[in-house]
Amino acid sequence: MLPAVSRESVFDDEAWWNPDGFLYGLHALIGPLRGPYLLATLRDTNVAEGSAVLDIGSGGGFLAALLADAGYDVVGIDPAMSAVRSAAQHVPASFVLGVGETLPFTNDSFEAVVCSEVLEHLDDVDAVIAEVGRVLCPGGVLVFSLPNRTLLSRLALIELAQHNRITRVLPPDLHDWDRFIGSRDLTELVRRHDLIVHEVHGVSVRVRDLPAAVGAMMNLRRRQISYAEAGAKVRLRLSRSRAVAYIGYAVKTGQRTSCTEQDEAQDITRVSTRSLSGVFSDQALQRRKEHGTCQLPR
Ligand SMILES: C[S@@+](CC[C@H](N)C(=O)[O-])C[C@H]1O[C@@H](n2cnc3c(N)ncnc32)[C@H](O)[C@@H]1O
Repeated sequence: MLPAVSRESVFDDEAWWNPDGFLYGLHALIGPLRGPYLLATLRDTNVAEGSAVLDIGSGGGFLAALLADAGYDVVGIDPAMSAVRSAAQHVPASFVLGVGETLPFTNDSFEAVVCSEVLEHLDDVDAVIAEVGRVLCPGGVLVFSLPNRTLLSRLALIELAQHNRITRVLPPDLHDWDRFIGSRDLTELVRRHDLIVHEVHGVSVRVRDLPAAVGAMMNLRRRQISYAEAGAKVRLRLSRSRAVAYIGYAVKTGQRTSCTEQDEAQDITRVSTRSLSGVFSDQALQRRKEHGTCQLPR
């Protein structure tokens, strides 16, 4: 039985790709920064096109879309059924209903794992990182992005964005600061599972862009612009300051092997014997039929 998120979960929503919804706002806000960062990191760490990439907490599939478009063999996993459905409708990739704490994949089966804006929502982050370490091939790459656990992140993302009567634009229970993870704590945590952090950048707004960002939030609060428009007006950039959020990557120890080659050579599948419910887009099924990699159940 899957420990699926509750029916009331803010993520269990079909509206991921609706520009008026806050879920699409996430994409509009952070997409222009994390998308190029993710692709550049995969390129710089030699995760070649065609490699198997797992998107944990794939939501509506924003990152899976980018990865599929760049030629990666993407599988997304998320416990919110509506998110999985929405992703499969919009993205030519495979999506599985499940949780990061118990991944239904065999050991060493992905060249990269992405966990973007997910780790801060988990009940058991240690269990998820343990699973990431298990399913990544030696030398495989984990790309992460999340809010930092600081007073400023609490003020900006929780007090102002979720609770303050005048400025709130997000659901009141979206973030729980007690689940936020400091960047040093994350480095320690992943090291316990054989993952070495190679790079961490802060994510912030330039001081000179702050008035535009605040203006966009006020207009959004007054419903004069959509979440998509508001997100696009806030220009995030990589910075030294990790005061609010950070993005980076870690590499699993060991000599790099290609999981796809390994799969073919050993004739193993990526799916473990754990139960698996999947929703697959037509294009993903076609691609799997043609190429025969990553034999997810049909
Ligand atoms: C803020 S959304 C991020 C979605 C996506 N990564 C993105 O950035 O577009 C967080 C996602 O994590 C998912 N999630 C929550 N608990 C999870 C768990 N235990 N394992 C995997 N995903 C989880 C939620 O359902 C939701 O889709």
